[in-house]
Amino acid sequence: SGMAVIQAFSRERAFQAEFDGMNEANRQANVVAQKLSSIFFPAIEFLGIVATGAVLWAGAYFIDAGTMEIGTVVAAVGLLALVFQPLQELSELYGQVQAASAAMDKISSVLDAEIDIADAPGARPLGRIDGRLELDRITFAYGADPVLHGIEIAVPAGGCIALVGESGGGKSTMAKLIARFYDPFSGAVRVDGTDLREVELRSYRRQLGVVLQDPFLFSGTIADNIRFAKPDASDQEVYDAAAAIGVDRVAARFEHGLDHVVREGGSGLSAGERQLISIARALLADPRILILDEATSNIDRPSEILIERAFDRLLAGRTSIIIAHRLATVRRADEILVVEHGRIVQRGTELDLLAQDGAFRRLAQTLHRDVLPSAFPAA
Ligand SMILES: Nc1ncnc2c1ncn2[C@@H]1O[C@H](COP(=O)(O)OP(=O)(O)O)[C@@H](O)[C@H]1O
Ligand SMILES: [Mg+2]
Repeated sequence: SGMAVIQAFSRERAFQAEFDGMNEANRQANVVAQKLSSIFFPAIEFLGIVATGAVLWAGAYFIDAGTMEIGTVVAAVGLLALVFQPLQELSELYGQVQAASAAMDKISSVLDAEIDIADAPGARPLGRIDGRLELDRITFAYGADPVLHGIEIAVPAGGCIALVGESGGGKSTMAKLIARFYDPFSGAVRVDGTDLREVELRSYRRQLGVVLQDPFLFSGTIADNIRFAKPDASDQEVYDAAAAIGVDRVAARFEHGLDHVVREGGSGLSAGERQLISIARALLADPRILILDEATSNIDRPSEILIERAFDRLLAGRTSIIIAHRLATVRRADEILVVEHGRIVQRGTELDLLAQDGAFRRLAQTLHRDVLPSAFPAA
């Protein structure tokens, strides 16, 4: 962990340098902009005054000579103002247009950021799904080295599977394929028998809940963050979801409770607290398929017990994929799959697997007793 600190530190310095550089560039750009506008505005104003003066001067001369009425001069001055006022307003507007188009660039770079996976031409919207899930001979690689080799998984609608195994085995990659953050190289992920590549992504993701190991919170209140996936939820619904997961206990720590404002990324909250909030978010969203990837890994024991109780409600009636290190969390699955080096090396119920001399038993032995499942009954 000393290494992590050093890495974090040197990264910070790099970011600081980059930030300083951008600040300096921004300052210089602002100085140039200010210089230009401090020339431009007065120049236009000066021109206006000179022109008015010239008209008045010429007017006085012609009136004196008796060739012009005073009304004509007044009208000419009025017309001049009509010309210069919009010119001035235009130059002010120009600044606003520049700022707006810079903002537009930023917005579109954000909007464009996440289209690694695009809808295929002719993709169909997916209606409400039952949640039958099928991974059919999936292979996948991020780079040159294959990460998954011929993965076969079938989950009936409403079923629950758990993926366990040492880190780097490919569990999260499977979760990402199910959520269609990536498409498989060969094979197919099917929901209710439909290949995910044939459906509109939005219509699928709307029915999907994903809780990741290090969840991201948006700037806004805790309640906003829970409501995120279901914007029309009532305060009562948000409160119920929070209470079911134990977020109300987290909120109690703050003066404004659920209305406590978190900053972007969720700083000021522990990783476990952010996980609790994102689990409440998933509960409120009421998805048809729920993926929990190490969703309770940073949660302290008392909160975890609370969540264990909420799991029944969280998982009821939906297809769920649980990835966990703690065997206590995976015991509720209908089937546990042990993943090693991109392959499923064992599958079965907890009792089946404990009865065999295999990967699962080895895995169970590496874990603390307090998280060992029914090998230690009466829990
Ligand atoms: N975004 C990525 N780019 C390249 N390689 C990755 C990426 N994510 C994971 N991997 C690699 O894929 C393998 C499986 O990782 P992962 O699915 O995260 O395993 P697990 O969740 O079981 O710990 C690992 O070798 C990991 O280094
Ligand atoms: Mg993982």
